[in-house]
Amino acid sequence: MVSDKVSIHGTWASRWVFILAATGSAVGLGNIWKFPYMTGMYGGGAFVIMYLVCIFMVGLPIMLAETLIGRRGRQSPVNALRTLALESGASPRWSWAALMGMVAALLILSFYSVIAGWSLDYIIAMGDGQFEGISAEGAGAAFGTLTADPWRLTLWHTLFMLLTGVVIARGVVAGLERSLRIMMPLLFVLLLVLLGYSMTTGHFMQGFHFLFDFQPDKLLDGVLAAMGHAFFTLSVGVGSIMVYGAYMPKRASIGSTVLAVGILDTLVALTAGLALFPIVFAAGMEPGAGPGLMFVTLPVAFGNIAFGQVMGTLFFILVLVAAWTSSISMLEPAVAYLVERTRRSRVQVTSVLALLCWVVGMGTVLSFNVGAEAKFFVFTADGFQLFQWGAEGGRNFFDSIDYLTSRILLPLGGLAFVLFAGWVLKREAVREELAINNPLLFGLLYWLIRVVAPLGILIVFVAELMK
Ligand code: PHE
Repeated sequence: MVSDKVSIHGTWASRWVFILAATGSAVGLGNIWKFPYMTGMYGGGAFVIMYLVCIFMVGLPIMLAETLIGRRGRQSPVNALRTLALESGASPRWSWAALMGMVAALLILSFYSVIAGWSLDYIIAMGDGQFEGISAEGAGAAFGTLTADPWRLTLWHTLFMLLTGVVIARGVVAGLERSLRIMMPLLFVLLLVLLGYSMTTGHFMQGFHFLFDFQPDKLLDGVLAAMGHAFFTLSVGVGSIMVYGAYMPKRASIGSTVLAVGILDTLVALTAGLALFPIVFAAGMEPGAGPGLMFVTLPVAFGNIAFGQVMGTLFFILVLVAAWTSSISMLEPAVAYLVERTRRSRVQVTSVLALLCWVVGMGTVLSFNVGAEAKFFVFTADGFQLFQWGAEGGRNFFDSIDYLTSRILLPLGGLAFVLFAGWVLKREAVREELAINNPLLFGLLYWLIRVVAPLGILIVFVAELMK
């Protein structure tokens, strides 16, 4: 029998709303901003292949596991894991995995808000025509001026955090559902327009080869980075998809839903990559430029095409919305948990959590300017230091949080979730939730969850250590 528990936070109107919400969570800065710049930093094709393998062999099984755990538990991830563990006669400590995920999601939100804030700034600059006819150097300089100014960054960061908090405080769907229906298709269309532009640069094939050429010797260079990004882009390993699963109607096929979300997410990322890299090469820019990549290439593209001012403004608005629908899913697991636990109102709980993320986010704001020299995780000749000002190596605050979440917390969280669905929940329970009649298909999915995904994560960790 399918579990008949009901979530106290509400239930989606239909399976479609879940798809919208999950896609909204998955498609975000990860696809448009992070994927291209990471591909550039890790040298192209080899990274993309590892990323795709990780999406389909590991990421999607985790998404499946999270959705079914959420829907069966009908509570925040922490309590869902606790309840289901007890029901299955296992240790309630399994809920610690969800607790860790919850913290990871809040840490991600802290820097995500800062980057999403950049797009707010760009909406205005674009709309104002500041990028008209701009050169690559000019775009680079404009980006440099923005990130050098902590006050400007703080303003946008604050505004974005408020946007996120307001939606979450008001409850689960209503406003977003409606905008998502229009915004997501529009974003895709504009990406295709950009793709069209990049084809005219004469460097399209160079961009294509950069993204898709198979480079066996480089495969291991960025395995952990690729896996971490696969998790990040699918929003798995932190409980975001799990909490959305808790609001899913009883009769809705989890398998096809999850596949649809995964494919959409991948398509958006690949389109973004195909659109951006030809521009990078045509303008003689550096593919490995890092986090600024999208913010430097896009102005060059929009600054030099017909109707670029309008399309560019629209584009950054869509980026903002895509980021917004992702950021709320980072806050929701913790908000749901604290509401269940403290019985305080959503508004109170949301305010406290958003403030907390805002404060941590200030670390990221400063890491692009006055605090750029504050380095963490420094390995020097005299050993390891957690913090050192002005160290040669090491990572700044933003890089540290990004590293800690994507490379460590997300994979560990994902590992715990698939192990839980595969080995703690009863086979019958999983079968009921997935509601797949074909025994062969069920067997395949179950095997992916039980064996392939956990092994995949472990292999990547080992490969990284031996690199
Ligand atoms: N998937 C989102 C993106 O690609 C980021 C995200 C990570 C959202 C973790 C929720 C949880 O931008």
